Amino acid sequence: MIPEIKNICCIGAGYVGGPTMSVIAEKCPHIKVNVVDTNKKRIDLWNSKNLNNLPIYEPGLKSIIKKCRGKNLFFTVNTELEIKKADMIFISVNTPTKTKGLGAGQASDLKWVELCARQVAQFGTGHTIVVEKSTLPVKTAEVIKSILENSNTENTNNIKSTFHVLSNPEFLAEGSAINDLKNPDRVLIGGDNNGAIMALNSIYSYWVPKEKILHTNIWSSELAKLTANAFLAQRISSINSIAAICEVTGADISEVSRAIGSDTRIGSKFLDSGPGFGGSCFKKDILNLVYLCKYYDLHEVGRFWESVVELNSWNQNRISNLIIKKLFGTVNGKKIYIMGFAFKANTNDTRESAAIKICKDLLNEGALLYINDPKVIPAQISEVLGMNESNKKEITEKKDLENEGKWHFIKNVVDGFHDADAAVILTEWEQYGKINWEIASKLMRKPSWVFDTRSIISANDLRKYNINFWKIGDGTH
Ligand code: UDX
Ligand code: UDX
Repeated sequence: MIPEIKNICCIGAGYVGGPTMSVIAEKCPHIKVNVVDTNKKRIDLWNSKNLNNLPIYEPGLKSIIKKCRGKNLFFTVNTELEIKKADMIFISVNTPTKTKGLGAGQASDLKWVELCARQVAQFGTGHTIVVEKSTLPVKTAEVIKSILENSNTENTNNIKSTFHVLSNPEFLAEGSAINDLKNPDRVLIGGDNNGAIMALNSIYSYWVPKEKILHTNIWSSELAKLTANAFLAQRISSINSIAAICEVTGADISEVSRAIGSDTRIGSKFLDSGPGFGGSCFKKDILNLVYLCKYYDLHEVGRFWESVVELNSWNQNRISNLIIKKLFGTVNGKKIYIMGFAFKANTNDTRESAAIKICKDLLNEGALLYINDPKVIPAQISEVLGMNESNKKEITEKKDLENEGKWHFIKNVVDGFHDADAAVILTEWEQYGKINWEIASKLMRKPSWVFDTRSIISANDLRKYNINFWKIGDGTH
């Protein structure tokens, strides 16, 4: 029998839970979708009247919220009540890498997932399908099952609640989340109970073609998610390693990427060299895989995947080092304009952004940073850099050769060029490709440098204006 789903509860109103539930609500107006989160501030933002204040920025999200919120899409902190009512519960909470104890630095901390499972066991009524949405280490479903099965799950009427657990990993990429959710390459449902699988299948089938919904066993589903992210990250480390070779040999990475990407076996996507991958998933998921390998004594396999993360850190370091080298070996007291802080364009997310490491390196060397990003707010930059913002005066009047770096947020893109020795493009925001370099060059201090880590401008744009130019993977000049 296929259970009918009328009420969905999603625990976790983050980058994954928020957009995913919004799309389900839009595509299935007959289902009531309740998104709960322990963070009241975040829930208040999801409920804000002004849609510009939603807690996350995703193209296309605002219009869905406008259409569905208050009709069949609700954001609340009332976890207990929503779990009670739900026929299906998505677990979409964060799973950070453990910072201490067994597996520190590699294994995921599952305390939030475990807590959710305990809440579901405590408050669930009747039959509930529990869906793992967060990316989790392989075998997490077993943990959830064991908690659900072994808890005291008799509700007030002494009727034992029943559960089925499914894995339904999310493949959305930030910045294109809504489009990815509406037009997925595939939807993966892992599980061992046909009724539960078909119940989830019936939701997706409102908008996803049948052949794109794949059914697997639960472990394959969990492992497929980690593997997809590991393969994608591996491509970026591979292309970044070749970019470094291009720079010293006179080759051009965009030509190499085009040449190899035309091979249909390789494919052309995910071949853009850059400052190094960021985002909440790639590093964490690979480290999870590494931990799994070590656990099962597959040490060579673990080292292979670990090297993908090592290459990424090396690449970020390489960029800060070369900026310092090009600026005569020191950036102490020099103004450097950081263009872009998000880990990629079209998102306000800064988790694991290459900008964090690069800015910290430059600040350690005593640089004065102007930082611009169209979507990241200054408070968030302060938090991730662990350093308060300085006012503009402190930066402009700072005497050279003091040791401490400082940073200041720039609202209007053009203002950051003022007196800057260098501009460093770290995120590929569209507006950075449209800079008027004639104006910028007049504002910058000479000799001026532009470092383009995203290959969004061409040497020709700058040639006339007496600006030194470095572009990632470009060994042609
Ligand atoms: C993502 C992915 O879901 C996951 O695959 C990955 O492992 C980590 O990041 P994301 O939506 O990006 O999750 O995380 P985040 O934006 O941090 O949202 C998680 C939300 O869960 C937070 O708002 C947090 O307050 C909430 N939460 C956490 C709860 O509501 N209850 C908890 O017990 C723990
Ligand atoms: C990724 C996966 O793509 C997605 O399927 C999964 O669900 C979550 O993790 P996300 O982290 O949002 O999504 O972004 P993605 O577009 O994959 O980019 C990750 C990082 O790689 C970014 O820092 C991006 O700038 C970088 N990148 C991507 C490159 O440097 N070059 C590329 O060619 C592509």
